[in-house]
Amino acid sequence: PRVAVVFGGRSSEHGISVVTAGAVLAAIDRTKYDVLPIGITTEGRWFLTADEPARMAITDRRTPSVEQLAESTEGGVVLPVDPANREVVYSEPGSVPKALGEVDVVFPVLHGPYGEDGTLQGLLELSGVPYVGSGVLASAVGQDKEYMKRVFTSFGLKVGPYVVIRPREWERDASAARKKIVDFAGEHGWPLFVKPARAGSSIGITKVDGLAGLDEAIAEARRHDPKILVEAALTGREIECGVLEFEDGPRASVPAEIPPPSEHAYYDFEAKYIDSTPGLVPAPLTEEETAEVRRLAVEAFEAASCEGLVRADFFLTEDGEFVINEINTMPGFTPISMYPQMWQATGVGYPELVDRLVQAALR
Ligand code: DAL
Ligand code: MG
Repeated sequence: PRVAVVFGGRSSEHGISVVTAGAVLAAIDRTKYDVLPIGITTEGRWFLTADEPARMAITDRRTPSVEQLAESTEGGVVLPVDPANREVVYSEPGSVPKALGEVDVVFPVLHGPYGEDGTLQGLLELSGVPYVGSGVLASAVGQDKEYMKRVFTSFGLKVGPYVVIRPREWERDASAARKKIVDFAGEHGWPLFVKPARAGSSIGITKVDGLAGLDEAIAEARRHDPKILVEAALTGREIECGVLEFEDGPRASVPAEIPPPSEHAYYDFEAKYIDSTPGLVPAPLTEEETAEVRRLAVEAFEAASCEGLVRADFFLTEDGEFVINEINTMPGFTPISMYPQMWQATGVGYPELVDRLVQAALR
């Protein structure tokens, strides 16, 4: 089968996607699949890339990029693998290709808006092309931290305290919107985490210790999304668990633990990708705790109607309760990312993982 690996994209997590795609493209079985690497620039231009993106490292929030990949390719232009596909795969900025050529399955290795949020999934549904991972609804739910929590709550999963400020609330009465947050702090205490409702990799998130930092944190979150979500800080251990769809349904990996923050105030972008301390795989939990978090991860997968894969992130509170923080329908897949590491520890190596995902999409 012919697999289009689509990566990069317009979201703030562009660089992570490029690195993830490098690893996926290196691991995919070329004797089994005909691979079409397609990069999307930050301005939304689709390119058929010469082969695979170099295994570039994440140096900051803007690098690596599909644009760099274009520059590093001989002649300064991204060469089409198959000249016959040139017309159909190239696109103008902000548009999508008119056709993807002959493609059996798309692997959208994209994080964040316009990739992981159901928009690309909708395009692929309309085009009738199978794709790896969750469909429109689960992708949209998994991208929106408000609706994600609402869905979890309605399925009986525990979530932490939060408050949402929608775009129209700012427009209508900004001081009332701000007061909502201040009242929330009064009830739950500082610090608070101020987050864009629809973003990832901790981009746009600020940990706020008191009133003095609030306005800047709100402005920063709103630079990424007009809708913001404010969460109370949960004290506890950060535990993650991977879910992968097998022939007989979803199964959970062994869980991992994110080491407690030291220099970093929390598990932010730098802690995730640049100055990362390796996670503990498997997480040092009791047998009962391990079984519980695996069960909850599959429940979260089912609650949002996910397909293919999910990484579910929890806090294990001091009361010994697992509180779900969020799910990621296309979790980071870089070689240092937790999702592949958790599956490796469960007995599913990286190439098998990639193969299972493609096979699940083709079923
Ligand atoms: N949003 C990033 C890629 C993750 O959850 O791993
Ligand atoms: Mg996330």
